[in-house]
Amino acid sequence: MDSDYLTKAKDILKKYHQEHLLYFYDELSDDEKNKLLNQILSIDFEQIFRLYDNSMTNNFALTQELSPLEHFEKSSFSKSEIDRYVSIGENVLKQNSFAVVTMAGGQGSRLGYHGPKGTYLLNLKPVKKSLFQIMCEDILRANKKYSITIPWFIMTSDENDMATKEFFEVNNYFGYPRDSVTFFKQGKLPIINVDRNLMLQEPYLIREASNGNGNVFLSMSKNGILDEMKKLGIKWISFGGIDNVLLKNVDPLLLGLTIDKNEQIASKSIFKKEPLEKTAVYCKKDGKPAILDYCDIDLELSEKKDENGKFLYREANMLSHLMSIDAVDKVSKIELPYHRAYKKNSFVNDEGVKQVPDKPNSFKFENFIFDAFLYFDNMILLRVNADEEFAPIKDFTGIYNPDTAKEKYLKFWKSAEV
Ligand code: UTP
Repeated sequence: MDSDYLTKAKDILKKYHQEHLLYFYDELSDDEKNKLLNQILSIDFEQIFRLYDNSMTNNFALTQELSPLEHFEKSSFSKSEIDRYVSIGENVLKQNSFAVVTMAGGQGSRLGYHGPKGTYLLNLKPVKKSLFQIMCEDILRANKKYSITIPWFIMTSDENDMATKEFFEVNNYFGYPRDSVTFFKQGKLPIINVDRNLMLQEPYLIREASNGNGNVFLSMSKNGILDEMKKLGIKWISFGGIDNVLLKNVDPLLLGLTIDKNEQIASKSIFKKEPLEKTAVYCKKDGKPAILDYCDIDLELSEKKDENGKFLYREANMLSHLMSIDAVDKVSKIELPYHRAYKKNSFVNDEGVKQVPDKPNSFKFENFIFDAFLYFDNMILLRVNADEEFAPIKDFTGIYNPDTAKEKYLKFWKSAEV
């Protein structure tokens, strides 16, 4: 590596008071030195400190005008309504114009599991299934039912891309036609600790992490995924996370409903039972579809009902979305805002010892997928039954843990087989 690079890197670090990142430089191998200098030169320090400083001064008071977002309830559709929507949706599926995107680039920091979250094995005694396998089986069921092969796109991140691909290889892609599986990497940003410093993950590596599931649109465009989808004739795309073991990636009902109502985007929701549960709900902000964070919801708002006694702000987000290719194209050109998340991230201390925190110690900056909805006048929101479609795994101790997910998964499939 050119000594110019070292000088340049030192200048940058000095400007942003980050000289500690070269603390172990002299002890590194030539390869490691190169790696570290390249990383320093590729990081946009201006951007990350701007995000950090703005996130400290922003007050998150709700300044926009709030109104409810209307929703449909699957349970109140008549049989003929369901048949009609499903038939519209099935026609689209049979025309091979539907794709699935699984967002699996997250850190899974709350679960604290070593490896990509999708490789986590759920113990469904006597068998164990990884979250990737569960997702794959869900799409394969639709393939079989409609005699199609749905193109499956999986978003990974720098941190977990290699391990994810290896896992698919070792498991023979769980029987999915491998030509129809495409991986693409999302963007990343450095993590900042509470002292406003970047951290070393290894003596030669600055800790960076995926920049949120809302980066999916930009990443699809940057990685040529959007072009590929257009070439394949894809018209509708379903987006879901990797950690909901009851996620229905392919839902002709939602698809048909959205097409019938002439909308471009749709989401599923579940009813928020407890008024003050820490869950974000759907709403409209300044007349546009949006998400209302739980911090902005008080008891009065949560208890608000319309004249028919229906709650106005109780439709909880479950990270299950549907968008037309045109809608995705549109938002892939928009820079979504960044939100700050407080997370646990291990780091190398001044003595060169790896520290694993037992509580959050650093900030991650993330785009959220639902911020894209603000760019549309309306959307379809369909409330589904949480027992049938929502069993996420978030951590080992909260309500969304592997045991609760396993229980719901087994219960659902037992009743589905009867
Ligand atoms: P979460 O917000 O639950 O984050 O992601 P996470 O990374 O899985 O876990 P924590 O918060 O660190 O504990 C919801 C979904 O969005 C994906 C995740 O992989 C998961 O499927 N996601 C999240 C991404 O694809 N990229 C990201 O940058 C963040």
